[in-house]
Amino acid sequence: MVFVTQRLCFILVTFILNFFSCLCVANSGQYHSSHLKVGKQSQVKSCNVYEGTWVFDDSYPLYNSSACPHIRKEFDCHYYGRPDNLYLKYRWQPKECDIPRFDGQDFLQKLKGKKIMFIGDSITLNQRESLVCLLHAAVPDAKIIEEINPLYSNTTFEDYGVSILLFKSNYLVDIEKEKVGQVLKLDSMKNGNIWKDMDVLVFNTWLWWNRTGPRKHWDYIEDGGKVLEDMDRMDAFRKALTTWAKWVDTDVDPGKTKVLYRAISPTHYDVTGWGRPGVENCGKETTPINGSTYPTGLPPESNMVKDILSTIKKPVHLFDITTLSQLRKDAHPAAYNIFKGMDCTHWCVAGLPDTWNQLLYIALTD
Ligand SMILES: *[C@@H]1O[C@H](CO)[C@@H](O)[C@H](O)[C@H]1NC(C)=O
Ligand SMILES: *[C@@H]1O[C@H](CO)[C@@H](O)[C@H](O)[C@H]1NC(C)=O
Ligand SMILES: *[C@@H]1O[C@H](CO)[C@@H](O)[C@H](O)[C@H]1NC(C)=O
Ligand SMILES: *[C@@H]1O[C@H](CO)[C@@H](O)[C@H](O)[C@H]1NC(C)=O
Repeated sequence: MVFVTQRLCFILVTFILNFFSCLCVANSGQYHSSHLKVGKQSQVKSCNVYEGTWVFDDSYPLYNSSACPHIRKEFDCHYYGRPDNLYLKYRWQPKECDIPRFDGQDFLQKLKGKKIMFIGDSITLNQRESLVCLLHAAVPDAKIIEEINPLYSNTTFEDYGVSILLFKSNYLVDIEKEKVGQVLKLDSMKNGNIWKDMDVLVFNTWLWWNRTGPRKHWDYIEDGGKVLEDMDRMDAFRKALTTWAKWVDTDVDPGKTKVLYRAISPTHYDVTGWGRPGVENCGKETTPINGSTYPTGLPPESNMVKDILSTIKKPVHLFDITTLSQLRKDAHPAAYNIFKGMDCTHWCVAGLPDTWNQLLYIALTD
């Protein structure tokens, strides 16, 4: 996917606000996914918010996508003619507890002065656009400053001092131009120096690791000082993620920066499990899968992510959206995008990423 490179625009307005909330990171030693505490203090029980089902809710979607000026042509399904609306009307219902609805004003107030950076591929862009739409809908008159530089883009809700940043990095580790060509360096992650100044980091990588031919954007892989033509991609993914994990342990200050890793975002090109005769991909899907598990289970790369996160000593939150997204075969752009190509990888905005951001809101404010 292509990212925008340049544009500097200023939109006006005002807003006031008040309080501040620190991003305290309590757990340590192992990653945790969100276990929301519910009930009175005497009877606190924890709830895995990533386990549940999709339920119809006529009060959804959370915003009108036509009124959000921040949606890219790849994700604006409604604008590109998607005829059905049902996919906008599902709410995530965890099995063991109810979760708060996304509250954009509360988000901006609690994260006042904070820099939230998304780092990863075009799915990360997908999530970041949804967050900007959700916040814009909550404070439509608030002044937004957008800055784009070669490394990242920066959308700031000025009155709150909240910056939502997007750092494009398909592999997290470095790709550098050398005499032989573009070299993907599994042991090197120089951009960490920029990332560690942020207050919240939401990482992810996977989509690009399996790519072959000209679509992979590198010519060679450097692994442990050796330059190779290619290698087992799962192995390469594991090594890069390990480089990232070590960086978290050595370079992140958990008193300042909260680290989240977004789990694998599933695709729906393989219909095994939910397809009917004649169905080849997500193209004609209009409803989620019933129940709380995906017929064919988690993708194998999912376990790799969990294994590596479990080696990190500092607190890292696994933002575990894989299963809940697997259930949403209906939530992809399919052919309703500017390309008219079949896209069962990304997600419509408005749509599923709004729920990811509802869960991000919970992870950052509970
Ligand atoms: C969404 O916004 C557009 C443009 O502002 C407006 O024309 C449309 O009526 C709105 N739709 C709903 C359901 O509110
Ligand atoms: C993002 O933009 C805001 C507003 O211009 C600025 O104050 C802030 O320093 C920028 N943040 C980064 C990390 O570039
Ligand atoms: C990626 O590659 C691995 C290893 O070859 C394979 O098992 C897996 O099915 C591939 N995944 C996708 C999404 O192509
Ligand atoms: C899903 O479950 C609901 C309620 O039990 C049922 O009405 C509906 O037919 C089911 N849908 C599918 C596709 O199985």
